[in-house]
Amino acid sequence: MQKYNIPCARSTSFSEYTKAKEYIQQQTPPIVVKADGLAAGKGVTVADSIPQALDALANIMEAKAFGAAGDKVLIEERLSGKEMSCFAFTDGKTVIPMVSACDYKPVYDGDRGPNTGGMGSYSPPHFLNPVLSQTIMETILEPAVKAMAQERRPYQGVLYGGLMISQDGPKVLEFNVRFGDPEAQVTLPLLKTDLVDIMLAVINGNLDQMNIEWNQDACVGVVMASAGYPGSYKTGFPITGLNNLDKDIVVFHAGTRVGSEPGQVLTNGGRVLTVVATGNTIAQAREKVYDNIPRIHFNGCHYRKDIAEMRRS
Ligand SMILES: Nc1ncnc2c1ncn2[C@@H]1O[C@H](COP(=O)(O)OP(=O)(O)O)[C@@H](O)[C@H]1O
Ligand SMILES: [Mg+2]
Repeated sequence: MQKYNIPCARSTSFSEYTKAKEYIQQQTPPIVVKADGLAAGKGVTVADSIPQALDALANIMEAKAFGAAGDKVLIEERLSGKEMSCFAFTDGKTVIPMVSACDYKPVYDGDRGPNTGGMGSYSPPHFLNPVLSQTIMETILEPAVKAMAQERRPYQGVLYGGLMISQDGPKVLEFNVRFGDPEAQVTLPLLKTDLVDIMLAVINGNLDQMNIEWNQDACVGVVMASAGYPGSYKTGFPITGLNNLDKDIVVFHAGTRVGSEPGQVLTNGGRVLTVVATGNTIAQAREKVYDNIPRIHFNGCHYRKDIAEMRRS
């Protein structure tokens, strides 16, 4: 990103523990410490103090909490602002934006508690406007696709930018090369064009000939999880009420399985299902979701009550 001037946090990478430690000691907090590899979503520490940053560093590089992902670390400036996820389809040349979304990682309301795989999301972000969308396309998504082609590693697929909308504009926190979960559950219902046609164009390199259409509605998805999640949890509890929902509600099954009795559905994971509603506005979609959720029940189920709540900063 530095090489291609794609806006992101100022950062330095280290493969030597002592050098990284010295560097951190010279910084003014807050500061972000990242394991440079896969760490099951636990590799990033946003540290408010130098001792906290040093602890995170020791955990990554000395204790090797994430194995080989801790051979290298990134020490980054902390960005502040609103977070969102942007997505685009690309065949390596043409870039077509998808609708964007905001997701909620912490398990409890008000973004408290440990992080999860995602407790819900909504689309589009309430603070997104056409100017910001265009800036994201022109300064982030298009340059990233172009850069990968120039590096002779052209990318075809779904490009996902995790962004911080800072006072200086949108900056990249991370890229993923897939749809986001749970963001896909609130973006794909808004897609009017056949996804298979888009995927074929991505593969065949003729995305420039596609006209991709999106519904202008808003979409809200809330995850229902097992008691104990994201820690340990029990499974096998019957889920009731799935047949008692409004017609336009979509339920995505994640941790479920078919039970032995006819029509019976049992819990089979931490994140059990996502309830999704579409509406003219975010508020309307939100109301529909929370109106339908209490009709679904399983032993110990919990969910966030503040997904897509507009008071959220
Ligand atoms: N430079 C940064 N400044 C502020 N917050 C950050 C920064 N980098 C990461 N974060 C926070 O940490 C979270 C996880 O970081 P991310 O790079 O998305 O890693 P992961 O691969 O675990 O999703 C982000 O969603 C964001 O809230
Ligand atoms: Mg992330």
